[in-house]
Amino acid sequence: MTSPRPISAQRLELRPVRPRHIPAVYALTEASRAHLAPWMPWIHSEPSLAATAEFVRQAMVQEASGLGAQFGIWQATDLAGVIGYHPIRWIERHADIGYWLGASFEGQGLVSRSVCALLNQAFFDLGLSHIGIQTAEDNVRSQRVADRLGFRRLGVVAEGEWFIDHWVPSVVFQLSAAEWLARPERDRLLPAVIRPGSALPKPGSAGTA
Ligand SMILES: CC(C)(COP(=O)(O)OP(=O)(O)OC[C@H]1O[C@@H](n2cnc3c(N)ncnc32)[C@H](O)[C@@H]1OP(=O)(O)O)[C@@H](O)C(=O)NCCC(=O)NCCS
Repeated sequence: MTSPRPISAQRLELRPVRPRHIPAVYALTEASRAHLAPWMPWIHSEPSLAATAEFVRQAMVQEASGLGAQFGIWQATDLAGVIGYHPIRWIERHADIGYWLGASFEGQGLVSRSVCALLNQAFFDLGLSHIGIQTAEDNVRSQRVADRLGFRRLGVVAEGEWFIDHWVPSVVFQLSAAEWLARPERDRLLPAVIRPGSALPKPGSAGTA
């Protein structure tokens, strides 16, 4: 019987994406193209630094509009992946989150620790009531992240995500602030640290009416 791998205890930082990060994000997506291909439709576009720059530009517009940031997941000087909010729905006090890791950073708990940090921010700093995760039905690895953190499976949506040229079914997960407060994982999982540098999104900011 193999013993469970220890979670990485190394300091993990979430840094809001900025133009200076474009080369690192581009390099990581290029190195992980085959690994991301089954799950991330955007990776199928023509690779270019300009496309990564456009992602960063749109992320900063979203952040400046008060709808939530996109963060690089950093282990010291290594970019491991990206995590962030889909635009926060302030009226419903709800946001979905999305994430991906570079191929060589899987299996260390980095995304679980990063999701923990966003849950703490979403519930305790922003006052949101629910966070959602939507994964392709076949994406068992991503579903394990949601299960591990105590998200409830609400169901399967048959036409859940448009993937290049067809629909794929997706599993919808949700976690409430009260459920998160009751989870012991909050402390055990060594949440990533959110580096200051992004203003906290606020209801009533541009685009949140
Ligand atoms: C989905 C994805 C982010 C999950 O990555 P991951 O490495 O499985 O997730 P985490 O970083 O949370 O690490 C969990 C792994 O670390 C291991 N781990 C070790 N100690 C751990 C601990 N204390 N806590 C959590 N995980 C721990 C877990 O055992 C697990 O590995 P296993 O599944 O082989 O058992 C990654 O597979 C990925 O980027 N996939 C492609 C893009 C994608 O699908 N994005 C999501 C779209 S919805």
